[in-house]
Amino acid sequence: MHILCFIFYYIFLLLFLYFYLILFKLSAGDLSEVIVPSQPVVSLVGEDVILPCHLDPVMNAFDMTVEWASPDLNPRFVLLWRQGEELETKKHSSFRGRTSVFIDELEKGNISLKLSKVKVSDEGGYKCFLPTLSKTSTVQLVVAVVQMTKNNNGVLLECESADWYPEPEMFWLDGEGNLLSAEPTETVRGPDGLYTVSSRVTVEKRHGRKFTCRVTQSKINQTREKHLTIPDHFFVVPNPRTHVAIGAVIGCAAIIFVVWKWRQKKFSK
Ligand SMILES: *[C@@H]1O[C@H](CO)[C@@H](O)[C@H](O)[C@H]1NC(C)=O
Repeated sequence: MHILCFIFYYIFLLLFLYFYLILFKLSAGDLSEVIVPSQPVVSLVGEDVILPCHLDPVMNAFDMTVEWASPDLNPRFVLLWRQGEELETKKHSSFRGRTSVFIDELEKGNISLKLSKVKVSDEGGYKCFLPTLSKTSTVQLVVAVVQMTKNNNGVLLECESADWYPEPEMFWLDGEGNLLSAEPTETVRGPDGLYTVSSRVTVEKRHGRKFTCRVTQSKINQTREKHLTIPDHFFVVPNPRTHVAIGAVIGCAAIIFVVWKWRQKKFSK
């Protein structure tokens, strides 16, 4: 009789543990949060960037549906992962071939998105959404720009980077990594408290053709860089308009000189 009691007792205990574990696992799942950085992710045009997103506590996301979407797009998907594969055809055409998840990381609850060859139009909010958990979080992507324009003294390079916090520093480097003396960095603080920095530098042919605009935030140890190469034609001297201007100046000078000489001759008589 006693033995039977023990057996029942153990069966009961095992069943209890079993259900307890199932319940615990489920509630642990419900408790998982979708974590994204609170600060915007900054990328320069043309770079590859990772939009971080992970589950905490860790849950295997490989078999879950993972949606990366941008509310402004139609269709809104930037990436759709379902039943262990990416549904490439579901995503917005401007992201085809440019987005991916790290497949080996999914089981570790890391559902970060890799976005390649960032465009200016990519700037905005990206939703990292898990329908199974009905949890969503938004990552902000900020795209910084570098421009080059020809001017009288050489080529004017301008670099701008928006939505930083705290205030970052901006530098220009030449191809050998030497610091260039640029005009003072302009800093603007928006109503949202975020900083936009921009910097301009004029370079000449002797500086070479490769340059880097570097934005660093020493406090959080973050550095972004944009490398650029000035195309050859930017350094080809005077454009046709300059030729006309130079021609006109020389022409005028010649006429003045001739008139002056003529007058001199006339009055010396
Ligand atoms: C997720 O994976 C990416 C790519 O390997 C990595 O850079 C990132 O640090 C990972 N995030 C976490 C939270 O492990």
